[in-house]
Amino acid sequence: MYAIRAATPADRPGATALLARAQAVPEQHVGYHGVTVEEITAELAAVRPTWASGAAVGVDGDGVVRAVLSVDVDREVGRAWLYGPFVEVPDGHPAERQVWHNTADDLLDVVLRTPALAGITDLELYGHRRNRRLGDFAARHGFAAGSASRVFTLTGAALRSALVGLAEEPGCGPVRLGKDPLVRRQVGDLHERCFPNRTVSARQLVEGARGHTVVTLTGVDGLIGYAAGFIQEEEFSVDYVAVDPNMRSAGAGRSLVRALLRELAAEHGARGRAAAVIALGNDASERMFTALGFDLHLELVGYRRQEPAAGAVVGW
Ligand SMILES: CC(C)(COP(=O)(O)OP(=O)(O)OC[C@H]1O[C@@H](n2cnc3c(N)ncnc32)[C@H](O)[C@@H]1OP(=O)(O)O)[C@@H](O)C(=O)NCCC(=O)NCCS
Repeated sequence: MYAIRAATPADRPGATALLARAQAVPEQHVGYHGVTVEEITAELAAVRPTWASGAAVGVDGDGVVRAVLSVDVDREVGRAWLYGPFVEVPDGHPAERQVWHNTADDLLDVVLRTPALAGITDLELYGHRRNRRLGDFAARHGFAAGSASRVFTLTGAALRSALVGLAEEPGCGPVRLGKDPLVRRQVGDLHERCFPNRTVSARQLVEGARGHTVVTLTGVDGLIGYAAGFIQEEEFSVDYVAVDPNMRSAGAGRSLVRALLRELAAEHGARGRAAAVIALGNDASERMFTALGFDLHLELVGYRRQEPAAGAVVGW
């Protein structure tokens, strides 16, 4: 129905417009993207190595982008994230489901053959819990469903109060990660212990290679914990928070998150929202974020395929 081909840089505005239409609908929402044109524009600009080098599009007879699948590759962790697939099927099409799946399969074929993905066999998909087609697509292509996660957000007065609260604790709270090799090593060790399935390596984290700002809290015995996050077009993103197991439930986590938000605001300017993704069942993390005023925003499910599953694609 659509002409499927590798993307070119000229496809990016059309792809951005399609994504903004789809992201507004839970049944089509993909966890890697925001919802506004501004957010999506920034996200596509940050895709490695470049958006067009790892993307496929489907265009209709008028040349309008109606389908897209992009891939973001990190060779250091040997993993790639598939952003999509997004397929726009005309309302009332008699074979809507089949068109969606056939188009999505064709997009995947093109993307898997791009040089960007050469040698990468660890792939992830990530979508709204109500994006059932993504779940079906994942299952047909041999991706295992992972645990669900929840996105919590902090806005308005609660965000302002989290930012202002720490200003009243000068000198004794968390500080920005500096050059001290001991603290850097301790942050890396805690990161690796707390996040065995991490998507950012300890080196990338402490060196800021993936754009993280890191704050740390130390006590007489060394590192108590750290928080790491980055700035997005419209929000502060809290990516990792970890506290030494012997130091938990004493408010360190909360203090680190507040410090991180304040540091991000000081460095990059204000944003209207902070967001954090929490694995379903991580009650301590959920308690920490809700105590700061974060509210449940949406639920997402990840799917992962670590080896090409020969014969996993079944007809339907
Ligand atoms: C999540 C984490 C950072 C919290 O650190 P912390 O210093 O204990 O955080 P805080 O003390 O500010 O808040 C934790 C809250 O959870 C509560 N809590 C602890 N364990 C809990 C559990 N199993 N179930 C429910 N609540 C729990 C604490 O009592 C505390 O709430 P309270 O102050 O109202 O009593 C820490 O548990 C951790 O490092 N976990 C491993 C890494 C991780 O999962 N990070 C989060 C993902 S980004």
